[in-house]
Amino acid sequence: MHKLMTLALAGSLAAAFTLSLVAPPAGAQTEEETQRGLERFRQMLREDPWSNPALLDADRGEMLWATPAGPSNATLEDCDLGLGPGVVDGAFAQLPRWFEDAGRVMDVETRILWCMQELQGFDVAEYVKKPHPSGGQPVKDVGAIATWIANRSEGEAFAPALDDEAGRQAVAMGEALFNRRSGPFDFSCATCHAASGQRIRLQELPYLSDPAEAQVVVGEWPAYRVSSTHVMTMQHRMYDCYWQMRMPKLEMGSEASVALISYLVDKAAGGDVAAPGIKR
Ligand code: HEC
Repeated sequence: MHKLMTLALAGSLAAAFTLSLVAPPAGAQTEEETQRGLERFRQMLREDPWSNPALLDADRGEMLWATPAGPSNATLEDCDLGLGPGVVDGAFAQLPRWFEDAGRVMDVETRILWCMQELQGFDVAEYVKKPHPSGGQPVKDVGAIATWIANRSEGEAFAPALDDEAGRQAVAMGEALFNRRSGPFDFSCATCHAASGQRIRLQELPYLSDPAEAQVVVGEWPAYRVSSTHVMTMQHRMYDCYWQMRMPKLEMGSEASVALISYLVDKAAGGDVAAPGIKR
């Protein structure tokens, strides 16, 4: 990267992250020590996959799927995730995809929302007002169900069904959004995620438009996020990165959110689904 740009970027990033940083009192852990501690914890969780707390959320998701709920008092068991009503195994590996009944391309969370509305009669507009958990709170229902569905494709190669006209359009829109600079900092996703080995402090920033890196990280979502002690979904990740750009709130299930996820999963095609993963 050009040196001046690096400096400008570093300055803006410092401004962007001051909010979340509190100077440690004397004798407290430095940010670096905390990061190393977190990395050790992540390592331990990886060595014993069954200790991943996200599996509890996956269990909750499975239960929610099969429990009658909503004004229609129905379960989600007839929800079609793309492979036919009720077929869960392997469905996540082929998402996002076009859904004829809904007339649009959907990622897993958008599809769950749609099924909650169509089958259970939920008011989804109400749900998306606050769809993501705060730090320390457990992932909400859609995220728990998404964690379970993703886990049921674990070990399968990502093969999103995005080859049709609508799929290609979603990927193209996602690519445009990924590269479009906007907001008060004039950032694009590419500002932080289009070079190898970039970091903000000690956080590694994956080069998401590079299939080699996308194939490793994208399939780990939804993931247990150690620093906020809950499962974070891909929709939540998109929301948070848009927030870091100080952009207007990214609505869960919106066309923009689905397009960004389509772009990322298209880059990750061929990589393995390894959800739920473990993140910083
Ligand atoms: C200001 C820099 C910045 C911008 C701009 C940004 N991100 Fe991020 N992104 C981050 C950071 C920092 C993390 C890691 C967060 C963490 O570990 O908690 C991250 C993580 C991610 C991840 C998860 C990577 C992994 O390790 O699995 C994805 C996916 C992602 N961002 C996508 C996007 C997209 C899409 C956009 C544009 C809408 C975007 N980001 C814009 C800083 C940025």
